[in-house]
Amino acid sequence: SAATLGGYADFMEKEISEQPEAIERLLKGRLGEKGILLDELRMSEKDLAAVDRIFIIACGTSYHVGLIARTLIQTWAHVPVVCEYASEFNYEQDVLITGHTLCLIITQSGETADTLTAARRMKGMGCKVFAVTNVLGSSAARESDGVLYVQAGPEVCVCSTKAYTAQMVACALFALRLAQANGHMDAAEVSGHYADLATLPDLIRTVLSRAWQDKQAATVFRRAHSALFLGRGVNSTTAYEGALKLKEISYLHAEAYPAGEMKHGPIALLEPGFPVVAIVPEDRVHDKTVSNIQEVIARGATCVAVATDGDESVASLCEHVLWIPPVEDELLVPIVAVVHLQVLARYVARSRGCDVDKPRNLAKSVTVE
Ligand code: AGP
Repeated sequence: SAATLGGYADFMEKEISEQPEAIERLLKGRLGEKGILLDELRMSEKDLAAVDRIFIIACGTSYHVGLIARTLIQTWAHVPVVCEYASEFNYEQDVLITGHTLCLIITQSGETADTLTAARRMKGMGCKVFAVTNVLGSSAARESDGVLYVQAGPEVCVCSTKAYTAQMVACALFALRLAQANGHMDAAEVSGHYADLATLPDLIRTVLSRAWQDKQAATVFRRAHSALFLGRGVNSTTAYEGALKLKEISYLHAEAYPAGEMKHGPIALLEPGFPVVAIVPEDRVHDKTVSNIQEVIARGATCVAVATDGDESVASLCEHVLWIPPVEDELLVPIVAVVHLQVLARYVARSRGCDVDKPRNLAKSVTVE
């Protein structure tokens, strides 16, 4: 059915709010007696178990999904992963594949020219191509050996929100399916991770109920000329995605860096009032990122943090905190934390008078190389 606004101010607001249901739809019926059900892969158990290298190829927001997928696949299934921008991959001279390399393309629209070219190149070299996409019957779906539809429903807003989180969940299912096939996880471990995934919709609902925090924090960016996003580990990707959202719809320049890299250059940008967004959940790198926040504050910059409920070490340092509920598996934090950054970007864009659904110069699917 055609997408309509319902009671929402814009499609971006509507699509952000649809994320919990999109993930519920995707997870439904995916856990069977033998573990994760992903028949869409259309690969035998033997071929799946033999996969010894994966190329993930995508563009933009979908590339950020790929970065998260790389960590999930490597951690859960112990298969080495290369993740590349399609526009870079297509012009690389040497592609080092093995006889059991699998190509995973991630594309919301299924029509991104660079991504399709990359898939054709991998197919030409004899690799199986698996697509994660949101659009039924899209070119990516038709041309791939297997396709997993994320079923997020039509995404109208040029800037991707619900497809981002749904694609991450789809890749998590893929990583579990692979781990189950190659023996890196037993059935109990697989269902434990599936149970963690099943908590995501409610965790996101909690973040959505806290949109007022993002609205308040948005005031920091109203007159800013630039912003820096910082995060570590999987949340360096959350930083990249947060900066991309802000750039796309508010036209505010934003740059993202792994927090530990700040001292190698970007720290020179800091001056009183300069806005910094730090993603600092409760995880193995938490304290390291808190020290980065201290360096930011010491230079008079303004820090907006995304942190876990009850984190006093962050609350005492930062002007604004966007709170997330505790997430059992720290690798899944990006799927929860990014929701604050989507909502924040939308408030900033609106306060700067921008049309969030149709940002200038951008197209929903980029069908030219
Ligand atoms: C997302 O907000 C962007 N508009 C853009 O980066 C997008 O993700 C990219 O063009 C890839 O699109 P796809 O997922 O349809 O291939």
